[in-house]
Amino acid sequence: MTLYKIAAERIARSRHLIALTGAGISVESGIPDFRSPGGLWSKYDPMEYGHIESFRRNPQRVWQMLLEMDGLLLGADPNPAHFALADLEKRGLLKTVITQNVDSLHQRAGSVNVIEFHGHNRSLRCDSCGKRYSRKDVLLAVMPPCCRCGLPLRPDFVFFGESIPATAHGEAMLAAENCDMMLIIGTSASVAPASFLPTSAKRGGAYLLEINPDQTELSFHLSDLHIAEPAGKALPAIIEELDQLGSEETKSC
Ligand code: APR
Repeated sequence: MTLYKIAAERIARSRHLIALTGAGISVESGIPDFRSPGGLWSKYDPMEYGHIESFRRNPQRVWQMLLEMDGLLLGADPNPAHFALADLEKRGLLKTVITQNVDSLHQRAGSVNVIEFHGHNRSLRCDSCGKRYSRKDVLLAVMPPCCRCGLPLRPDFVFFGESIPATAHGEAMLAAENCDMMLIIGTSASVAPASFLPTSAKRGGAYLLEINPDQTELSFHLSDLHIAEPAGKALPAIIEELDQLGSEETKSC
């Protein structure tokens, strides 16, 4: 029996399936992840370019990295992994996606119940006067982009050193505590508090299915099943097994 079939049978039996995704699910959309060789943090020191204090000290410098990230995100489209999760939601199997990604690709693939744990790239905001601007209304020709009040704008996602948006944090913790199965897709599970979510799900008795070509901190001591393949290959294959299961059931009755 293939790992896909085991995964499909588990998913078909689940009553409260959720997914936790990380940068790895968007790699096949052309967005490099953070910690793999060649990832964003191999080019930019995350404490120098991804920390709120660095942004406050030198917004122009941090916007150098943000501009490169912005170009990658805007040029990306959902890949088969994103569409597979949207399909699982449409079938009434997947209740919610908790994503650490800010690329909006889950929504563009059709997922509706998405918790954006680290915020998103669709708007920029001024931390001085609180004004928000839709990303598509901001020209990034002048660095750093500034608010009408004169101060620099920042993306509507979380820097290191900042708290997780309270609503997203609460909803994600609740989803993890109440699920009976969690798909953990494309994350090194190395950044808290997102990395606590699989532990919380496990404590609640959930079955953890990890999809990641590499081993992670979860693979040995927490994941019940690890499919060491790219998400864009594994998830569509699991969906195919789900369809097989469905056709076997209709044949048998
Ligand atoms: N399919 C599945 N997993 C993949 C794929 C793929 N095609 N390609 C790479 N991966 C895996 C990598 O092996 C790695 O384990 O995805 C994981 C990505 O890990 P990170 O780069 O650490 O990204 P992530 O876990 O999302 O980082 C968490 O850290 O820098 C912060 O805020 C940032 O949200 C980010 C957080």
